[in-house]
Amino acid sequence: MTPRRRRGAIIGFGFIAEKGHLPAYARSDELEIVAVADLCAARRDVAAHAIPGARIYESYAGLLRDAGDLDFVDVSTPPYVHAEIARAALQKGLHVLCEKPLATTVEDARVIIDEALRQGRVLFPVENYRHAPVIVAVRQLLATGLIGAVHDVTLSTFRNTHARGVKEWNAGWRRETRYAGGGVAMDHGSHTFYLAFEWLRSYPTSITAKMRTPPGYDTEDTFVGTATFPTGMASVHLTWTAGIRKVIYTLHGERGAIRVEDDDIEVAVIGEPHPNGAPGRTAWEMKTKKVASEWMDAGHAAWFRSMFRNFATAMDEREHVGRPAMDALRCIELLTAAYQSASDGSRERRILPMG
Ligand SMILES: NC(=O)c1ccc[n+]([C@@H]2O[C@H](COP(=O)([O-])OP(=O)(O)OC[C@H]3O[C@@H](n4cnc5c(N)ncnc54)[C@H](O)[C@@H]3O)[C@@H](O)[C@H]2O)c1
Repeated sequence: MTPRRRRGAIIGFGFIAEKGHLPAYARSDELEIVAVADLCAARRDVAAHAIPGARIYESYAGLLRDAGDLDFVDVSTPPYVHAEIARAALQKGLHVLCEKPLATTVEDARVIIDEALRQGRVLFPVENYRHAPVIVAVRQLLATGLIGAVHDVTLSTFRNTHARGVKEWNAGWRRETRYAGGGVAMDHGSHTFYLAFEWLRSYPTSITAKMRTPPGYDTEDTFVGTATFPTGMASVHLTWTAGIRKVIYTLHGERGAIRVEDDDIEVAVIGEPHPNGAPGRTAWEMKTKKVASEWMDAGHAAWFRSMFRNFATAMDEREHVGRPAMDALRCIELLTAAYQSASDGSRERRILPMG
């Protein structure tokens, strides 16, 4: 007999819930969606149409009052209420999947991590970039030891605008601190930083950062920063003003380097010195390959399927606060230190060890 799928509710049925999460749930053997809450009437109509038979609520509180048959909630609202909703759901005894950033302050992130531990329920942050095929390919390359231990990474995320939320609610919420908690750093920082933690195999100890907020806006559209790790350095450039949509990552190791540009991977390995080369000159052997990862699909539906399997496994194995949740907390600590550095003339900020 196939075990029943775990039942969940989406809270915040906007762009990512509809175009990213829902298609992945529809193909999941482990998870299904039976309820939705959204404060916007037009979005509730979209949800009712997209998930026939689902219970639909105006507020997350109403949904949680009726949560008897639920196993988990999926928090897909903008960041301002992530922590509030996650905490309330954990207190109801539900597991929680939460979109990035897990919270907008370190204090809020700690509160929900503590709540998950107290309640014995899973808190699972969305870290879908880990599941992009090209990132999986980089992980496999690193595991072969081909380029040796990585000591330096650069991570650039270029966009021609901020992403827009659904038009029925507030498409421009990413430009309002009260909803977003910050600008491009709050929006893309999480994906950027958890990849840096993975590639450098440690957590950062300090950061120096600079940001630009254009006149008339209260969130930044450009972020540059350099984080120091016990194992190396990560240099980050995030912007909504690049005129293109692209990610470029480079990883520099002891014996070679990897460059990722959307679907393209280029590997350079230090080879034998060229017989006719100048003494001491390094010879590089280059290899390139393509790994289709659908970077242009902002919904990233394919990546969510693989991530949802990990969420289901965490629930099965009662891994309540695992590595993903700890990484999400460290992302918020790093972001907070970056904002402090940027508002203090880019002065290097130490990242206080987690209490
Ligand atoms: N992991 C990814 O690749 C990825 C991609 C896009 C967005 N996101 C994240 O997903 C979240 C949502 O982003 P989006 O682009 O889908 O936004 P969106 O504006 O399209 O959707 C947000 C939805 O939440 C609803 N909402 C707002 N406040 C609410 C509340 N208090 N209670 C219930 N519903 C509420 C709105 O009515 C709207 O339907 C953000 O945290 C964002 O960072 C992640």
